[in-house]
Amino acid sequence: MVIDMAEQLTIAIIGCGGMAEAHRRAYQMLWQSGYKSFRITATCDLEIERANAMADRVAEFQGVRPNAYGDIDKMLAAEKELMAADICAPHNEHHVLAIACFEAGLHVTIEKPLAITLRAGRKMLEAAKSRGCLLQVAENYRRTPTQRAINWALKMGWIGEPRMFLWVDTFERLWYWGWREHKEIAGGGWTLDGGVHFADLMRYHIGEVDEIFAVSRTFLPVRYMEPETRSKPVEISVEDTTMALVKFNNGVLGQWVLTSAAPGKGYNMRVIYGQEGCIDFQDGFYGRTTHEPINELVNKFMESITDEERERLFPMGITDSVAIELHEFIEGVLNRKPIETDGNEGYKSQAICMAVYESALLNAPVKVEAVARGEIEGYQAELNRQLGL
Ligand SMILES: NC(=O)c1ccc[n+]([C@@H]2O[C@H](COP(=O)([O-])OP(=O)(O)OC[C@H]3O[C@@H](n4cnc5c(N)ncnc54)[C@H](O)[C@@H]3O)[C@@H](O)[C@H]2O)c1
Repeated sequence: MVIDMAEQLTIAIIGCGGMAEAHRRAYQMLWQSGYKSFRITATCDLEIERANAMADRVAEFQGVRPNAYGDIDKMLAAEKELMAADICAPHNEHHVLAIACFEAGLHVTIEKPLAITLRAGRKMLEAAKSRGCLLQVAENYRRTPTQRAINWALKMGWIGEPRMFLWVDTFERLWYWGWREHKEIAGGGWTLDGGVHFADLMRYHIGEVDEIFAVSRTFLPVRYMEPETRSKPVEISVEDTTMALVKFNNGVLGQWVLTSAAPGKGYNMRVIYGQEGCIDFQDGFYGRTTHEPINELVNKFMESITDEERERLFPMGITDSVAIELHEFIEGVLNRKPIETDGNEGYKSQAICMAVYESALLNAPVKVEAVARGEIEGYQAELNRQLGL
């Protein structure tokens, strides 16, 4: 197939670790489905061998090898044809890398969370706006067939008016998880890292959050490089446990429990209750006397949507949520199609996670709006100081 280069978005992958590999697989999936409106022309990682390895793997499906760099400034100076960046770096680098890209006139898709603090996030939004660049926050969870189906069932009124939302994840993790265990790099523990996905889902399914009252703890202040023998301990500086009461603007009440310090039996519960029944994210819909398993719910949803809607949500029949979001980004830049999880959306979800931390520090309820406006930022203060923000 002859490719019209003028119609291709040239993209740099910045940060070539674990999640970047999921992005590469997604690009490959799009390419192999016949969607070739992009070209990966550069890869960049502080560890140049990772950038090189990524370039080699991209070349395998794309045919042409991207140029590999160990430094973003060198890459931006050399790659004059570059139009967009796909940033998959640790959280403390998000605003630095994204703002450098905006200043070079690039459109950006960035992995969640938007930024390490809300000040850093606001700087990103301002930089994107002032340069007329598009900013997508990669938020893949809501794009799966299951989450689309749950959202459809909620909108169709299957459970009636929503009343409560329970999100409980309890397990024990003793192993050390690298940069994610350090506040100055990650911004927070799982409440932010995984929590921002959950915050996005809460907003998607239920609506905006008004107020949060949270407590958090670090029950296990060390993790182990060799957890089986509990040897090679490393001190961590993020929370491992959060319990939060979440009040939504529409009156729905949420209970949000996340802990990686719970030995023994783990629990994994995500359920939305309404006046007529509930939707369990794993088991499907339960009415008072009826049950619709989740796969049946997904089938009904798929049958209900038009071909046009199906193509929008699952382009070319693809159901991989990362491939779908990257397709949206490329189409957003090239054809000005809407971006569902843009920078502002990412900022709102990040603000919920930050509200949890701010409330826990104050030992008092906080309004998410006040946190989003930057009026409450005690937890974030040391990060902002360290980042010079
Ligand atoms: N959407 C999801 O489901 C999901 C899953 C995992 C991770 N993530 C997100 O992806 C991002 C990356 O996480 P990961 O698991 O891939 O981490 P990782 O540690 O595996 O990879 C990060 C890479 O970034 C590189 N890097 C660091 N600073 C850099 C800089 N200034 N310039 C260029 N490269 C730099 C590192 O060398 C490393 O190779 C994070 O934002 C994380 O939250 C999202």
